[in-house]
Amino acid sequence: MSNFINTLGNLAAVVGAQWGDEGKGKLIDILSDKYDIIVRAAGGANAGHTIYLKDPNSPEGRKKFVFHLVPSGMFNPNCACVIGNGVALHLQTFLEEVDLLNNSGIDTKDRIFISDRAHLLFEYHKIIDGKEEEMKGDKKVGTTKRGIGPCYTDKTKRTGIRVHELVNDFDSFKKRYEENFNLLEKLYGKLELNPEEELKTLKEFADRIRPLVIDASFFLNQKLKEGKRVLVEGANGAMLDIDHGTYPFVTSSNPTIGGIITGTGLPSTKFKNIIGIMKAYTTRVGSGPFPTELNNELGEKIREKGNEYGATTGRPRRCGWLDAVVGKYAVMVDGLTDVNLTKLDTLTGIPKLKIAENYTYKGNKLDSFPADLNILENVEINYIEMDGWDEDISEVRDFENLPENAKKYVEKLESLIDCKITSIGIGPDKDAMIFR
Ligand code: GDP
Ligand code: IMO
Ligand code: MG
Repeated sequence: MSNFINTLGNLAAVVGAQWGDEGKGKLIDILSDKYDIIVRAAGGANAGHTIYLKDPNSPEGRKKFVFHLVPSGMFNPNCACVIGNGVALHLQTFLEEVDLLNNSGIDTKDRIFISDRAHLLFEYHKIIDGKEEEMKGDKKVGTTKRGIGPCYTDKTKRTGIRVHELVNDFDSFKKRYEENFNLLEKLYGKLELNPEEELKTLKEFADRIRPLVIDASFFLNQKLKEGKRVLVEGANGAMLDIDHGTYPFVTSSNPTIGGIITGTGLPSTKFKNIIGIMKAYTTRVGSGPFPTELNNELGEKIREKGNEYGATTGRPRRCGWLDAVVGKYAVMVDGLTDVNLTKLDTLTGIPKLKIAENYTYKGNKLDSFPADLNILENVEINYIEMDGWDEDISEVRDFENLPENAKKYVEKLESLIDCKITSIGIGPDKDAMIFR
């Protein structure tokens, strides 16, 4: 196969370089052929990673899978998948995904593992997520309402409950659950939930997951030592990072490289490739600043053509021009070694394309992406305008065969973000990728 794939090291990570939904699932599915283990490091069921499988029996010739918690490596029977310690784990969602896989003929036996240190996300976290959003009114984050913020709040407050507690001693787990539930009802008022019922379900879940629970950090490090290849599947995106993103319009974990390391216990010094996924334009779901947003017909055209609707919530994604300030920032905070540019095909037929080159605030060019949202909302964007292309690029597999203007667009981005673009997506299918 191609150069890029063959140069990948035994330990690598794939991370989102914008506001999520860049196409991480597809690359993970492709790379699962080259890795023994895929591990999720952070986030929870706020993520929605889409994979298309060839299916001659379906009218479209393919079948769509969206994974929220199960890592995107399950379609390779030789690949094992791990839920890392940094994940906020909602067991029902996880087990439903496992069932879906099994019902689709995918054998998950001895191929899925859960870190004993992962934090459990309960129904009450989801209810509180909804309540918090309601209380914020027009300042709401626009969360996925999957309970992510409240679960990580419990983790950092040191009242969170981890997987080992559920599977090792149900009675003491039950006590902890009830304590938390009662405390939260004191804080938030009556929660529309019967804790006894959830506990009953959790007891059944505990029996189901017990054989899957491992000391994942130890397991992953052992496997690496044995020469196995490990790939970390990032969730969300750099601009949603609790530290580096557009705070407070972010998620409650670190989708950037720090979270990849703390969320797995893998050694930072052993990562050879940190691959950032960057869409050829920009999308964002939920509230928060989006400098290059296109609030016009073209934005809608991109949404329709790119099918930009949330994989988790179905919400229409906001669309806009590619932003090299964001790209360069992600290259910096993630230390990206490679970029996979995705959905270049969506831009076909747009006569003039723009890329944000830099931001100016009060007449001064900014060095990097600003922290202060008041500044960000008032920056002037300096765009580069480029000619587009009309040719269908979905069948192209060799960079040299792309239309000249498509090549120029890719090369321009490469020079602006100062990182190699080693693969280019030109369609949703697994084989729709150009490797350089
Ligand atoms: P993720 O969360 O980063 O895994 O991305 P999502 O699955 O939420 O959204 C990406 C969408 O774009 C999915 O529907 C993918 O099937 C699709 N996709 C990924 N790469 C490409 C590409 O190169 N071209 C096109 N047209 N679609 C793509
Ligand atoms: P993947 O892995 C896109 C966004 C939400 C919201 C904010 C906070 O599919 O790329 P949360 O529920 O995490 O508290 O929501 O973060 N968000 C995502 N947007 N893709 C994702 O994941 C996202 N995960 C969270 O829309 O704006
Ligand atoms: Mg997604």
